[in-house]
Amino acid sequence: MKHFLEISQLNKEQITSLIHRALEFKHTNHYPSYPEHTVVNLFYENSTRTRVSFELAAKHLGMKVINIMIQNSSEAKGEIIEDTIHNLAAMGIRYFVIRHQQEGLQQLLANKIKDIHIINAGDGTHAHPSQALLDMITIMEQKPNVEELKIAIVGNLKHSRVAHSFQAMCAHFKVRDLVLIAPPIWQPSKLIYGRVTPDLKEGLIDADVIMCLRVQKERLLEHEHLDLTAYRCNYALTQQTVTYARPDVMILHPGPMNREVEIDSDVADGPNSFILRQVTHGVYARMAILETLISH
Ligand code: CP
Repeated sequence: MKHFLEISQLNKEQITSLIHRALEFKHTNHYPSYPEHTVVNLFYENSTRTRVSFELAAKHLGMKVINIMIQNSSEAKGEIIEDTIHNLAAMGIRYFVIRHQQEGLQQLLANKIKDIHIINAGDGTHAHPSQALLDMITIMEQKPNVEELKIAIVGNLKHSRVAHSFQAMCAHFKVRDLVLIAPPIWQPSKLIYGRVTPDLKEGLIDADVIMCLRVQKERLLEHEHLDLTAYRCNYALTQQTVTYARPDVMILHPGPMNREVEIDSDVADGPNSFILRQVTHGVYARMAILETLISH
């Protein structure tokens, strides 16, 4: 594995190996050390979980970490990202964690620039593969037979890079029933895996896992006049709507949450919530990714 760009570019064995390695890191607290390597975080979109967990993951592996403040970098003077990366590579940096609003940019950079490793930390609405990895780690730790599960994803399936990468992940593991629940304006134009329904109740019935997606106000197109009250009424995860699922349903959310919009606090903080467990697993997942790239 030279880059980590999209779940669909990996095979099931590679994903399984990343999952096992992440859980091994979690359970042993025994980490290798790579002090000769440096990773740079280039985040052109806001982030808390992904950026910090990549930094922590690299530090746990003894790597040096550089966080570029984009607004203070020479990109503000007109330098293009390709030149920024060439210059950082000239200083000996080989590992680049990149989040950018342009879909496919990380792939483009990986094709153009030799001798570096690129990790996609989110590209527009397209993909967020490290999120899909930590999501699957969280599910498999609790419910290992994922091919027997019914998993529901609720929310903006059209604009969600989390949902796109998670569908690709479920395809690898042949999840029994992946249900994508969304109002018609947010239904995906292209289905990667699973089936689509606008009906929250039908989608949630007997679900083993529910992934709730954030209402992404920043990505809504102007013609998508979202009625938040109607959305909440029909699609919010509340104590009442969660009862459609199995009693041991796992509640996931990639964060950040809009509390009392797509998810109620008593669900987000309730006994079935694995939301903070996802965040914990984010560090181990990213350690596994970095280690695999280093041993490329
Ligand atoms: N889940 C996720 O990508 O969160 P951040 O935007 O905080 O990184």
